[in-house]
Amino acid sequence: MASHVKIEPMVHPQGSSVSFGANASSVNLEGLSDADIEILAEAFYKHHVLVLKDQGRLSPQAQYEFTQRLNSAATISSRHKDQDNAKSFLLSPDLNTVPHLPQVQIIGNGFVREHEGARNLKLRYPHHRSSHSTVIEDRNALKYTRFYRWHIDGDLYGAPPPVATTILAVKLPKRRMQTIRYDDGTGDELVAPLGTIAFASGEAMYDLLSEEDKAFAGSTKVEYAAHPYLWMASSKSHPTGLGLVSEGLELDDDELPPIDLASIQILPMCWRNPVTGRLALQVHSSVARRLHLVNGEIIDDLERVRDILYQFQRPGIAPQSVYTHDWQEGDFVIFHNRGLLHSVVRTLAEDEVRIMRQCIISGTEIPLGPDGIV
Ligand SMILES: [Fe+2]
Repeated sequence: MASHVKIEPMVHPQGSSVSFGANASSVNLEGLSDADIEILAEAFYKHHVLVLKDQGRLSPQAQYEFTQRLNSAATISSRHKDQDNAKSFLLSPDLNTVPHLPQVQIIGNGFVREHEGARNLKLRYPHHRSSHSTVIEDRNALKYTRFYRWHIDGDLYGAPPPVATTILAVKLPKRRMQTIRYDDGTGDELVAPLGTIAFASGEAMYDLLSEEDKAFAGSTKVEYAAHPYLWMASSKSHPTGLGLVSEGLELDDDELPPIDLASIQILPMCWRNPVTGRLALQVHSSVARRLHLVNGEIIDDLERVRDILYQFQRPGIAPQSVYTHDWQEGDFVIFHNRGLLHSVVRTLAEDEVRIMRQCIISGTEIPLGPDGIV
């Protein structure tokens, strides 16, 4: 059966250098045909962010099944619905989930009496105050904000990183604008809608590198810390939300739970898009521990590892390179976790209630490296 799904690339404002994002329409997520999936999967790898409007009635089950299909290696190579191997994971045991489908998380802000059978939720949206090395002064706390933490979704320990993350906006507070401050001495700022999620392209990040740095990035692997989020839990983020400042606050191995050496991930610094073939500089710099160079050298000095990654990644989060999604209730956003970095942005006031449903599922394969192999 032919698909009626329509894909239209986003038109970004003048001055923007963002070249990703598309709107998808005529999509019935509760009854997708194989032809629909094929079109959506191809658009997903090409445009990295797909926005579907008016999906407020989407069931958690349909969100989960669709996310599973995009995370299955089978999706782009065949039409088989074989996702039985797709393992699910939760980012934190503290997360609220849909009671009858715990693979779907409920995130947001404020008190929620009931959503999908979950009751009396006290949602808290992450705030940079708890995680940045410097913070915005109280008197400006609702007007200005920061990128909370640029990241790739995933454990980065054990399971392969997710391919696609999906988020549904169920309920949003009244729209207003905030100014994201970079506070890194550049004066960079970006005006964005309240509670946006910001996206930056790993492909653009790679393209902005010098030829010398491209050669380095294309041949280097990144070793992620064991139990990465425990390891860095006390560390503070750079004011741009990109990586951590080095103050020696990471845990030593003997302070962590037992380490399974086979779960430690050493991934290429650049990941190849399986559909377009383009390379993306994809590093979750906050949990990177070492760099493995092609000549066998290992850069173990954490401060140096972070400095290299910061120099490589910072140009890619310049204001003109960032897409900030202007959420409307019912928006269903699908984003490519292997081609983008993203960050939440807030400051929401205590009484600004926001409900989103998020589904993050680990991939079935580890990402392709520059040679198409890992
Ligand atoms: Fe995320």
